[in-house]
Amino acid sequence: MSFDENNPLFLVPETPEDKQFDFHPKTFEQYLGQKELKEKLYVYTTAALMRNEPLDHLLLFGPPGLGKTTLAQIMAHVMNTGIKICSGPMLERTGDVVALLTALGPRDILFIDEIHRIPTAVEEVLYSAMEHFRVDVIIGQGAGAQSINIPLSPFTLIGATTKAGMLSAPLRSRFGIIERLEFYQDEELQAIILQSAEFLGLDLSAHAATTLAKAARGTPRIAKRIVRRIRDFTQVLHKQPTDDVIQQGLAFLSIDEEGLTPVDHMILKVLVKNFNGGPAGIETIASLVGEDSETLEEAYEPFLMRKGYLEKTSRGRQIPPNKIAYIKGKFLGQLSL
Ligand SMILES: Nc1ncnc2c1ncn2[C@@H]1O[C@H](COP(=O)(O)OP(=O)(O)OP(=O)(O)O)[C@@H](O)[C@H]1O
Ligand SMILES: [Mg+2]
Repeated sequence: MSFDENNPLFLVPETPEDKQFDFHPKTFEQYLGQKELKEKLYVYTTAALMRNEPLDHLLLFGPPGLGKTTLAQIMAHVMNTGIKICSGPMLERTGDVVALLTALGPRDILFIDEIHRIPTAVEEVLYSAMEHFRVDVIIGQGAGAQSINIPLSPFTLIGATTKAGMLSAPLRSRFGIIERLEFYQDEELQAIILQSAEFLGLDLSAHAATTLAKAARGTPRIAKRIVRRIRDFTQVLHKQPTDDVIQQGLAFLSIDEEGLTPVDHMILKVLVKNFNGGPAGIETIASLVGEDSETLEEAYEPFLMRKGYLEKTSRGRQIPPNKIAYIKGKFLGQLSL
């Protein structure tokens, strides 16, 4: 296996491997971290269950891979209801969403991922579906066309988005519960890593799990991918995942001890070398790094900002002045300043 610098192995969206070959939390207890959010959702789902009503519509937002889809699945499991999962770009025509809505049973959950990407016409169908549990359907064509109003089962819409700001105000206002997922703390990721390692039969020490947690960018999906790759690495080398082997494994995966990938390194190097720390425009940085600006914004910047290595200003991105010396030190010898 070779690491393609331009292919951010750990930052791509969900893959079939994520789905099939790993542990998936089915209950709130198995879903580690996000304590406050979990408590709230537990209260809301339990209360709805006691009243035998659907849960109020819920909007979950936050960076990719933090567990939005998983939470929706857990809620369906806890409420013992069906769940239909689709994503915004899949719903091209109003007929697509009407078909999904009319197939829902009482209290079922419709989960729409990337809800900020649904077309306007589909969004308008959702308004009356969410508010009145009814949809208007046009039957026939031309002069003979007529609109009929169909009742739906009372259902819950769970919308997930990485870009809450891109949701229209009318759609946003129809969600009774709006919650944000935060990046995970290292201790939470350590627990997730141990949970996954146990399921995969990888004998990780608590210390090794901490090392991997620090490299996981606050994100369970990345943490779990690292565990699977470390399992490959140790298996092929016939080694045990000792601390030394873990370090070698991370180097093999081109992830540094802070979780930074070659693309993160390039972003920081470009800023230091070409702009003396910045500010520089996102498009300029993107072209120098060889990535598109959207990927930089979505996959790389949030973590670099969280680390305090990058900030957004009105004139572009920059390395905070108090971090420039540290970054220069980190890449000493690689910058030819
Ligand atoms: N709190 C958690 N505890 C244990 N595992 C978790 C937790 N959160 C997420 N995971 C695992 O991390 C992976 C990513 O979670 P999920 O697919 O739910 O993220 P997401 O927020 O929906 O991401 P995206 O925005 O890309 O759709 C899954 O394998 C899931 O099982
Ligand atoms: Mg998801």
